[in-house]
Amino acid sequence: MNVIEAIQQRRSIRAYNDKHVEKEILQRLVELAVKAPTGSGMEPWGFVVLQNREEIDALSEGIKKKVLENIDAYPQFSQYESWLKNERYHIFNHAGTVLVIYGDRTSPWNVYDCSLVAGNLMLAAESEGIGCCWIGFAEALLDDDTFKKAHGVPESFHLVSTLSMGYTKVAVPPCTRKPPVFFSWTK
Ligand SMILES: Cc1cc2nc3c(=O)[nH]c(=O)nc-3n(C[C@H](O)[C@H](O)[C@H](O)COP(=O)(O)O)c2cc1C
Repeated sequence: MNVIEAIQQRRSIRAYNDKHVEKEILQRLVELAVKAPTGSGMEPWGFVVLQNREEIDALSEGIKKKVLENIDAYPQFSQYESWLKNERYHIFNHAGTVLVIYGDRTSPWNVYDCSLVAGNLMLAAESEGIGCCWIGFAEALLDDDTFKKAHGVPESFHLVSTLSMGYTKVAVPPCTRKPPVFFSWTK
C-alpha cells in the first residue's frame, strides 16, 4: 500500500478483532511514526503502551465516571453525555492496545510534533491492517499525575494524543470531506 492509498483508506476504527498487536509490529510503527518533522529538531515525544485489557477496561470506566461527575469542567465533552451514560459504551471501543503520546512542554512545538507522529502512526498502521482511533476522552485521566507517575512519564510531559489500536474487524468506507476552503491563492 502506498502513502496515498493509506491516506484515502484511513478511517477512525471502533471495532477490532481479537488478534493481538504484536510488540515488534507496534515498535516498528512507532519507529516509523517518529520520522515526522520536529520543530528545532527537538523530538519532544514519549510513549506509553497499554496492552492489559483489565487496565484498559478500568480506565474506560474511570474516564466515564470522572467526566460525568465533572461535566462542567469538560465543555468539549458535554455533547457526548448520553454516550458516557451508556453502560455499554467503552471509551477505547474494547481495543487491545492503547498508545498514548506525550509531548515535552520544554519544546514550544511539542503539540505539533506529537500530532504529526500520531498522523504518521495512523497511516503506517493502516498499511498493516491495523485500525486506530484518536480518543480525546482519554485526556480526562491519562494526563493526570497519578497515571503519569505510575507509567514513568516525566513531569515536563503532557498528553497530546491517545490512539486505540487493533486489527480492523469491519472495513469502513473511505471518508468524505467538505471541499477545502482556500482563503486566498495569489498568482
Ligand atoms: C482530536 C481528536 C479527538 C477525537 N476523540 C475521539 C473520541 O474520544 N472518541 C472517538 O470515538 N473518536 C474520536 N475522534 C475521532 C473523530 O471522531 C473522527 O476522526 C472523525 O469523526 C472523522 O472520522 P474519520 O477519522 O473516520 O475520517 C477524535 C479525533 C480527533 C482528531
